Amino acid sequence: MRVKVSRKAHFNAAHRLYNKSWSDEQNSEVFGKCAFPNYHGHNYELIVSVTGEIDPDTGYVMDMKVLKDIIREEVEEPFDHKNLNVDVEEFKTMNPTAENIVVVIWKKIRKKIPENMELDVVLYETPRNFVSYGGE
Ligand code: NI
Repeated sequence: MRVKVSRKAHFNAAHRLYNKSWSDEQNSEVFGKCAFPNYHGHNYELIVSVTGEIDPDTGYVMDMKVLKDIIREEVEEPFDHKNLNVDVEEFKTMNPTAENIVVVIWKKIRKKIPENMELDVVLYETPRNFVSYGGE
């Protein structure tokens, strides 16, 4: 029996969307307010889900305390109250859209999840806009 277990998390971060190789006009045309040079913030919400077999000894798919610690180390500590463009290595060269952020988060958490389990990450940039990634 494979069961999906999920944990919610949260971080606040600033970002700016722009393409270095475009003019300011082109950036503001494509990214609108998100291209403002002085950055803006979002309250990001995250749902991290792990799917796997129920361990017959514990009755768990995964100890949620372990998942909580992984999310804290890989997402909350590096991203919370940070400027994603400036403070996070991956986004020095990649536009910090919700799409790119969810893939970065997925890759960071994936390294810590046993290979026989599936990982899905949903990232809310606003209460109405969200993206999800579960691997290629
Ligand atoms: Ni934004």
